[in-house]
Amino acid sequence: MRQRGMFISLEGIDACGKSTLIRRLKAVLDAEGEVICVREPGGTKVSEQIRDMLLDVRNHGLLPRAEALLYAAARAQLVDELLLPVLAEGKLVLADRYLDSTIAYQGQGRGLDEDYLDHINRICTGGLIPDLTLLLDVTPDIAAQRKRLQGEAADRLETEGMAFQTRVREAYLRLAQAQPQRIAVIDASQDEDAVLATALELIKARRGEK
Ligand code: TMP
Repeated sequence: MRQRGMFISLEGIDACGKSTLIRRLKAVLDAEGEVICVREPGGTKVSEQIRDMLLDVRNHGLLPRAEALLYAAARAQLVDELLLPVLAEGKLVLADRYLDSTIAYQGQGRGLDEDYLDHINRICTGGLIPDLTLLLDVTPDIAAQRKRLQGEAADRLETEGMAFQTRVREAYLRLAQAQPQRIAVIDASQDEDAVLATALELIKARRGEK
């Protein structure tokens, strides 16, 4: 796939610190050229509407296969409407979640078949794979503690509980082991400054390779 910009995704279990890291990365990297930040599901008008549906706690009857397809629909819209055009313009994209979330949450979390999920990921991304994925690894215990400190209400997926988050974390670590050339694991139990410094080093190294 032809792209001139750089595409970085950030992954991890709920409350692993992705959003904070993205905000801080943008503040640093904007000095070197425009940085576009997106979140998944979301990032376009249609994808944000799909997000509302997916995270609504009233939709507890949503079936795993339907859930997977809704995430894929939001992603397809994001790729064509926003990601491909801005990457073609040479911009740097920071995505708060992308295709690995589907494997971790709908695969290991919900128990859907991974080949099926790989297939729908191929369809919705059109083959657009991140140049680098930063996996913020933290135990579900620490993540839950952070969440409580922030005092935020849980969304539909966050109400799934510890066993679910543990399975999701294991899936992420397995993906990172299988694709070390793309996925870098960062110990997200460290303080924010240390996480930022590690992330910047990894991005700099990958930029040098491109
Ligand atoms: P966020 O809280 O990081 O914004 O993510 C929204 C929730 O959606 C989070 O619990 C993870 C979940 N999710 C999936 O289950 N599958 C996916 O493909 C994506 C992108 C997110």
